[in-house]
Amino acid sequence: MSAASTGPAAPLAILFELSHRCPLQCPYCSNPLALERAAAELDTAAWMRVLEEASELGVLQVHFSGGEPTVRKDLEDLVAQAARLGLYSNLITSGVLIDRARLDRLAQAGLDHLQLSIQDSDAANADRIGGYKGGHARKMALAAWVHEAGMALTVNAPVHRQNLEHLEDIIELALSLGAGRLEVAHVQYYGWGLKNRAALLPTRAQLERATVIVEAARARLKGTMVFDYVVPDYYARRPKACMGGWARQFINVTPSGKVMPCHAAETIPDLSFDNVKDRPLGDIWRHSQAFARFRGTAWMPEPCQSCDQREVDWGGCRCQALAILGDAAATDPACAKSPHHEALIALAEAESQAPAPPFTYRRFAAAE
Ligand code: SF4
Ligand code: FES
Repeated sequence: MSAASTGPAAPLAILFELSHRCPLQCPYCSNPLALERAAAELDTAAWMRVLEEASELGVLQVHFSGGEPTVRKDLEDLVAQAARLGLYSNLITSGVLIDRARLDRLAQAGLDHLQLSIQDSDAANADRIGGYKGGHARKMALAAWVHEAGMALTVNAPVHRQNLEHLEDIIELALSLGAGRLEVAHVQYYGWGLKNRAALLPTRAQLERATVIVEAARARLKGTMVFDYVVPDYYARRPKACMGGWARQFINVTPSGKVMPCHAAETIPDLSFDNVKDRPLGDIWRHSQAFARFRGTAWMPEPCQSCDQREVDWGGCRCQALAILGDAAATDPACAKSPHHEALIALAEAESQAPAPPFTYRRFAAAE
């Protein structure tokens, strides 16, 4: 039956960007360039209500993210509410603000899983990339406490041309921290990542070497540590199914309550986003303009419309089409069937071989 007659299936997961505040300044942050201020953030009661609405909608997982979600003093209350509602909870954190007592409180509140980001295996380079002195050492301490608390740990390692030569050490580090899962995530080029693309984009040779290293480690560590490997699709022949397809599996809520199909959707100028303060979450998921705009396949241009991959990659990434081509409804240029694919590869090869410019760090001031 069509989505039009039955409505879309329930989303798998919801991501709460609780706050855009963060002590780190990573130059590839997935937050928008226009960061939302603390004064605009939803209050505790509003987040509690959204958790209830998510549960009623059939969501299974809630990811508490940011910025840095632990800047919110009410995080334990939100985790406890998720646990009461039977939602699987995941905290996506830089880890630098969590002491032992806070971790124990989060564990007692029912937190199921912690996803710790690291910037590198080398402490000095990690602190340089994150723009936060002493951050790496704090992360190492937190990982040990997570292990002791018996909580599931994923290490998230964004990789790029300024840390890729340490990839083997990054894998060993995640293993030594007791991570059950390691996400080796090549930086994606939206928001701050796009702004810093020339400083981050690896060469094709660096990417190919990284893929060989990950595949070898994945085979060697089977049964010990699971790998998620996210590639930069600038060099690919087919795009990724971004977010598992637009408005198919995920909901993103910004600190002020705007509801979006992905974290970068606000870059698309002709979309309008509903707010949880004005409209129930289920109604937004089923009927809002922004979710309906690129859901399914009816919106697709050729060659996607008659392509046998259209329900595999769902046309790739709308935000990437917008960022590269200025048209969110165009075929993702990461696809070799796009007339713009060769130009994208040429751009990537030229940019990745030129000297890296300095980072523009993710600061509120840098966004203005
Ligand atoms: Fe995917 Fe469209 Fe490329 Fe087909 S033409 S592989 S649907 S992006
Ligand atoms: Fe928005 Fe890919 S990041 S669709």
